[in-house]
Amino acid sequence: MKLRGSAMASLHDFLASSYQREHVSLLGRASIALLPILDFLAREGFSKKIALPSFLCPSPLAAICEAEWEPYFCDVSLVDGNVSSFEIDKAVAAGVNVFFLVHLFGNPNSATARLLEIQKTKKIFVIEDACQALGAWHNGKPCGTFGDVSLFSFGHTKTIDVKGGGAALTDELLLKEYIDSFDFKNSSLLRIPTDVSGYFYAAQKAFFADPDHSPAHFSGLVDIYRQSLGRSWNESWVDPILERLGHLEKVVALRREKQQLYREGLQGIVPLEWSENASPWRYAFRVPGLSWDQQRQLSEAVRAVGTNLSNWYYPTHWMYGTHGSHLEWTSQFSREIFQLWLDDDTDFEMVNQNIKTFNEAYQRFHG
Ligand SMILES: Cc1ncc(COP(=O)(O)O)c(C=O)c1O
Repeated sequence: MKLRGSAMASLHDFLASSYQREHVSLLGRASIALLPILDFLAREGFSKKIALPSFLCPSPLAAICEAEWEPYFCDVSLVDGNVSSFEIDKAVAAGVNVFFLVHLFGNPNSATARLLEIQKTKKIFVIEDACQALGAWHNGKPCGTFGDVSLFSFGHTKTIDVKGGGAALTDELLLKEYIDSFDFKNSSLLRIPTDVSGYFYAAQKAFFADPDHSPAHFSGLVDIYRQSLGRSWNESWVDPILERLGHLEKVVALRREKQQLYREGLQGIVPLEWSENASPWRYAFRVPGLSWDQQRQLSEAVRAVGTNLSNWYYPTHWMYGTHGSHLEWTSQFSREIFQLWLDDDTDFEMVNQNIKTFNEAYQRFHG
């Protein structure tokens, strides 16, 4: 029988060697790594402003707010939902020195090279978010090897989903020690958990009831997400994570096969531009030109026949309370986005069924 300690050591070693990093910190979830990381950077003299995509799971934004940093929202590209080099340059020109580099939907972010290039002449710090990109590669290296620190998640819906857990990988010993000794109890993370979904659905309902679809209905939701950040590492996650990491390549290959089926079968849609080295998290695509109401109607028609379809995410800056007229691509992307599942619970038969039901609903929608 393996000793607990040795399983933990195996997980550390596996992550460190796979991602060519000296140090690994395991946490209750990926987002909360931002608390010690941002605190560390503030002590190092970085101004407390961080660039992040405006189309993202709201939890990292919640952690940024919890750390009392100011978010600088970047618009995303309609091509793949990632932040482009152009947006990075804009953020640099606006004086931002800390970047949250996300590989959205498991698609390697093509602005990675731009950030690394800027780092040669300027002191900027890159926090790489590989939470949806486990198993993806970019320019011959795995995603998760590019940032000064890189984050992974093993939480709900992720490529390896053990219902919780995250990892922060870095070569900087002082940062690793700061993360490991951070007293999360000093933050307000131990507040009584809130029914986050309840608040979210109430906001969404008000948004759709409002003929103007004002983003203000989502305003302040970030404070609700802040209350769901607190979670500690659970040792029972170690074995299942290790086991699944052991066949990650096979997991990714299966996801790519399902992605290919969707790509060939879905009609009337614009697929995202997928890198061949992506590790697709969901099959994400756009239906261009939709209004909010049309997106909802089409999604409901697909769901009504039993296909699990999602439209994640609403613009992140809305949760913060910023309308962001300069973030128009994000709003459009959000209005046009659809995602179908590629996970282990979605077998090839179900993929074919999803294609059929989507195409039929789409035909009726346009008919
Ligand atoms: C791209 C991305 N980053 C970060 C996170 C946060 O991960 P965690 O739930 O482990 O905090 C998520 C979670 O959905 C995510 O999708």
